Amino acid sequence: MSFPWANEYQPSHPFMKWMDEKLPLPRLVYNSVGSGYPVPRNLNYFWNFGFLALICLVIQIVTGIVMAMHYAANTAVAFDTVEMTVRDVNWGWLMRYAHANGASAFFVVIYIHIFRGFYYGSYKAPREMVWLLGVVIFLLMMATAFMGYVLPWGQMSFWGAKVITGLFSAIPFVGEPLQQWLLGGFAPDNAALNRFFSLHYLLPFVIVGVVILHIWALHIPGSSNPTGVEVKSESDTVPFYPYYIAKDGWAVGAFGFLFCMMLFFFPNALGHPDNYIPANPMSTPAHIVPEWYFWPFYAVLRAFTQDFFFIPAKLMGVLAMFGAILVWFFLPWLDKSPVRSGSYRPTYKKFFWFGLIPAMLVLFYCGGAPAAEPYVMMSQLAALYYFAHFLIILPVVSAIEKPLPLPYSITEAVLGKDEAAQLAPTAR
Ligand code: HEM
Repeated sequence: MSFPWANEYQPSHPFMKWMDEKLPLPRLVYNSVGSGYPVPRNLNYFWNFGFLALICLVIQIVTGIVMAMHYAANTAVAFDTVEMTVRDVNWGWLMRYAHANGASAFFVVIYIHIFRGFYYGSYKAPREMVWLLGVVIFLLMMATAFMGYVLPWGQMSFWGAKVITGLFSAIPFVGEPLQQWLLGGFAPDNAALNRFFSLHYLLPFVIVGVVILHIWALHIPGSSNPTGVEVKSESDTVPFYPYYIAKDGWAVGAFGFLFCMMLFFFPNALGHPDNYIPANPMSTPAHIVPEWYFWPFYAVLRAFTQDFFFIPAKLMGVLAMFGAILVWFFLPWLDKSPVRSGSYRPTYKKFFWFGLIPAMLVLFYCGGAPAAEPYVMMSQLAALYYFAHFLIILPVVSAIEKPLPLPYSITEAVLGKDEAAQLAPTAR
């Protein structure tokens, strides 16, 4: 939305005036991330995570392009080319560790970004499109990360690819031909490695495209804020530059510090030791585990252990695993509360903190644990709550709960009063 009080772009330099007539790129920047973009004045640190996600995306693309210069997508040498990049290429170790840990950092940032959305109701109208595009980005990120993990062609790369592509075989009738078509063979091999490399290089740029749409869609209503009350007057906002550029800059510094700690002191902490063993189709690892960011969904997959009449357990697991993400697409319509922010929704808030968060943590834990008791039962209970939360609890609670009184405006929430807005002709 262009707020009537947004600063107007006024180029003073003749070159910038000329540019503004021919290709108004500086105007676009000014209106999107400059002084021409008014933003709610009360955004807390959770609103820094979108910007951090952008930084992660850039880190992944830059380090990935450099790594691709030294990588060969051939099962005979893929493992060695990655090791060679780390050992023999100048700064290769930094590129590899930044890329591998960057994927983890990206997912940490995105999970916080998404859960911020759950708590503050960022998915609600008028930002449904921002949310829907976000879910598309998340699915693309998962596909990209999965294919990236196959590339070093270590033991976990190979067996992870075998398990995950094997899931397609659960689809009735077309499953097995589909799996063979995806792999280009009966098992992960050269054909699969080549196509995964090609797609792993391509998808980040598709993500860039969807991120542009995501931010475009966000800039139509503008950002929400911790109160969930929409902007009413000029005093509710501050210009993006310098205020949020400075705050995002601070967040990037803090993130950079933690990221460097990871890179320089614990670069392999999140990696699986089996992936330092070259892929061997003749030797199955004791536990095949995906990367940590897939664990909650992997736990949902493994929570189905019994066939249900003619429906095999594996098929139900696959459907539930995809369903656990696809249900997010329906959130804007499942949540009927007129109040956006969890801070003013006492019942919803309890289910968020004492239901959804613990269920998600249990799923995280169980997804990385062996497929044995008590983890299977814990996954089943947590998965049950997870689906009940979105499909039953959220619609019911949002329809019947009595929210707390909302502040009149963002300014009132911040300063305790907002006389100017209440006297304005548009005031309720
Ligand atoms: C590459 C991944 C992503 C990038 C670069 C990105 C970027 C951003 C940025 C810069 C913002 C504005 C600042 C902020 O509110 O934090 C934003 C807002 C938002 N994002 Fe994302 N995002 C990504 C993924 C996602 C995902 C996966 C979801 C949800 C599934 C999502 C949902 C949202 C929502 C709902 C908002 C509006 C928040 C509000 O104003 O309350 N985003 N995103």
